[in-house]
Amino acid sequence: MRATTETLLGGRHILRCVHCGTEQRAADPLFQCEQCQELLEARYPEWIPLKPQETQQLKRTWRERRMSNAPEDVSGVWRYRELLPAIAPQHIVTLKEGNTPVWPLRQASRRLGLENLRVKHQGMNPSGSFKDTGMSVALSMARVEGFEVVCCASTGNTSASMAAYAAHAGMKSIVLLPAGYVTAGKLAQALEFGSTVLQLRTDFDGCLRLLYDVVRRFRAYLLNSVNPWRLEGQKTLAFELLDQLDWQAPDHVIVPGGNLGNSSALGKGMIELLELGIIDRLPKISIIQAAGANPLVRTMRENGGRELIPVEAETRATAIRIGNPASWRKAVAVLRRTGGACEDVTEDEIRLAKSELGAEGIGCEPASATTLAGLKKLVRSGFVKADESVVLILTGNMLKDADYMRQDDKQQLIGPMEADAATVIRALEKLYAAN
Ligand code: F0G
Repeated sequence: MRATTETLLGGRHILRCVHCGTEQRAADPLFQCEQCQELLEARYPEWIPLKPQETQQLKRTWRERRMSNAPEDVSGVWRYRELLPAIAPQHIVTLKEGNTPVWPLRQASRRLGLENLRVKHQGMNPSGSFKDTGMSVALSMARVEGFEVVCCASTGNTSASMAAYAAHAGMKSIVLLPAGYVTAGKLAQALEFGSTVLQLRTDFDGCLRLLYDVVRRFRAYLLNSVNPWRLEGQKTLAFELLDQLDWQAPDHVIVPGGNLGNSSALGKGMIELLELGIIDRLPKISIIQAAGANPLVRTMRENGGRELIPVEAETRATAIRIGNPASWRKAVAVLRRTGGACEDVTEDEIRLAKSELGAEGIGCEPASATTLAGLKKLVRSGFVKADESVVLILTGNMLKDADYMRQDDKQQLIGPMEADAATVIRALEKLYAAN
C-alpha cells in the first residue's frame, strides 16, 4: 500500500520565493531568497492533479495508517507524508504530534445562532501547542543537514516545542525570549527540556532580529516559522482537519495571527488539497489579531495588503504580542486566495471569549480565544452566516497561561477559610442564594 501511494506524490522539492518567484535548491541560514531576501516556500514541481481513483486511494491509505503502530503512521504529520518533503525514516523526529480533537461548541453555537460550529484543539499536541507539527518536520530537516544545535526566538510556545523535540533528538537548543513576557508554564517547559534560555530586554520582534544576526555568525539551525519546513509540518493541520471532516471543507476556518506562520501554513495546506483534487472547494480562512498587536489588520485596512504596517505590540495574550510579523506576505496571499476576513479583538473580548470556551469545558490560552471573539464580530457583520459551517483553531493549551485565568475575577474561588463543615456550608449557601 505504502509503495503504491508514495509513488503518486512526494518526490523532489524546491524552495521558491513568495515575492519574486525565484527558485533555489538550498537555503542560506536565514531562509531568505537569494535575489530579494524575502521568504521562501517549499514547492513540489512534479505534483500534478490526481485522478479521482488516486485521491480515493490516498484517503484510504491515510485512514488505514490510523490503525498502524509505526511512528510515522501514528504521527498526525507524517501520516500525510505523500504531501511532505521526502525524509528517510531514520531522520524523522516525532513525538506523535497532531491527532488533535475536533469538538462541537454547543453553547456558543446556540448563542450565535450558528448551525455548525466546532473547534480543533491544537493545544492537545505533545508540548501543548500547534508548534509541534511544524517542529517535527523542521527538526528532522536539521538532522538531515547535520546540525547539532537548533535555535529560535519565541513568545514561549515555539521554544517549548523546540526544546522538547531537540531533547528527544539528542540535540542542543538555544532560545531567545523577551524578558518578562513569556508565561511561567512555557518557560518551565524550555528549561525542563534542557534549552539554554537567554532572556533579552526587548520584545519578540527584537529577539528575532537579533537571532538573524546570531545565525549568520554561529552555526545553529533557525527554527522560527521563516523556516519553510516549519510551515510544511503546520500545513498538515489542513489535512488532518479535512480527514476528520470526511473531506467536506467547512465554509470558514478561523485562526489567531501573530507572526503569521500558522495562518500561512493552514492556507498552503488547503490550497494544495484543492489543487491536487483532494477537496473541491476552499474554506474562507480568517485571521484574528489582538487589537494591541494588529499589524496585519492595519495593513489590510490601510493599504489592502501591499505594504506591512508594523506596530508597537501590547496585549495580555503574550503568545501573539508581535508587531512586525515575518510571514505577512504569505498571510495576505491566503486571505486573498480564500476570501477570508482579517479582524482584531479587544482585551475584554478575548477575556470573555476565553471564559465562554471554558464554560463549555474547553480550556485554551488567551491567544486561541481570539478566534471565538473574532467569530462574534464576523457573525455580527454578516460575513459568517447562520447556515455556514465554522471551525475555530485553538492553538495553545489552557495550562500554558494559568496566571491569566487566576488574574480574572473568578467568583467561584472562595477562601482561604477555616477547615470545618459549618463554615463551608455557610459559604455555599451564601453563594447559591446570591446566584
Ligand atoms: N497562538 C499561540 C498559542 C501561539 O503561541 C502563537 C505564536 C500564535 C497563536 C500565532 O501563531 O505566529 O504562527 O501567527 N507563537 C509564537 C511563539 C510566535 O514564539 O511561540 P503565528
